[in-house]
Amino acid sequence: MAAKASLLLLLLSLSLAISLAKPDGRRFSRTLRPQKLGKEKLSHFRIYFHDIVSGRNPTAVRVAQAATTNVSRTAFGMVTMMDNPLTVGPRLSSKLVGRAQGIYASASQTELSFLMVLNFAFTEGKYNGSNLSVLGRNNVFSGVREMPVVGGSGLFRFARGYARATTHEVNFNTGDAVVKYNVYVFHY
Ligand SMILES: *[C@@H]1O[C@H](CO)[C@@H](O)[C@H](O)[C@H]1NC(C)=O
Ligand SMILES: *[C@@H]1O[C@H](CO)[C@@H](O)[C@H](O)[C@H]1NC(C)=O
Ligand SMILES: *[C@@H]1O[C@H](CO)[C@@H](O)[C@H](O)[C@H]1NC(C)=O
Repeated sequence: MAAKASLLLLLLSLSLAISLAKPDGRRFSRTLRPQKLGKEKLSHFRIYFHDIVSGRNPTAVRVAQAATTNVSRTAFGMVTMMDNPLTVGPRLSSKLVGRAQGIYASASQTELSFLMVLNFAFTEGKYNGSNLSVLGRNNVFSGVREMPVVGGSGLFRFARGYARATTHEVNFNTGDAVVKYNVYVFHY
C-alpha cells in the first residue's frame, strides 16, 4: 500500500516536473528531410544591367555623400540607390527581364570600389516573381568583378552562387553605364 502510494507520488511529481519544463507541449521546430526539396540545379543567367544616372529619368540616384571634402577621388562615402533595368541584350530597348534593386556605396579610400547590396527581381518567364540577393565588392575599374549570391526567394529559395560583372559600356560624359552580369546559381 505504502509502496503504491509512493509510486503514485513519484509519477505525480515527475509529470509535474515535465509540465513545468514544458508549459506548452507544442514544438516550434522540427527536422525535415532535405530530399523533399528535389534535385538541386545549377543555372546560368546572362543579363545586362543599365545604370542610368543622367537625364530626366535616372534609375540610380545618389542619396548620400560624405560631408568632408577630401574624399572625391574615390567618392568614398557616396551612397546610391538603384532600380536599374535588366535586359537580355546590351541595348536598353532589348527585352526587359527584371530589375536590379538596391544600393551601391563607395567603400574604399584608395580606389573606386563599391559595396553592392541588391536584389535581382525577375519579371520574365518562369523566374517572374523570383528574386536573387547579391552582396559583394565591386571594384569598378577591374576587368571582372565577382560578387556572391547570398540567397533568394521563389524559385531561388536556398540559392547560392556568384555573379561576375564586366563593364560593357560607359559614357564618360553622362556617367551612364551598361554592365554585363553572368550569374551562376545553385537552387532547387
Ligand atoms: C587631401 O588629399 C590630398 C591627396 O590625396 C592630400 O595631399 C591632402 O593633404 C589632403 N587634404 C586634407 C585636408 O586632408
Ligand atoms: C509576372 O507576374 C506578374 C504578377 O503575377 C504578372 O502581373 C505579370 O504579367 C507577369 N509577367 C510576365 C511577363 O509573365
Ligand atoms: C520578389 O520581389 C518582388 C518585388 O521586387 C516581390 O513583389 C516578390 O514578392 C518577391 N518574390 C518573392 C518570392 O518573395
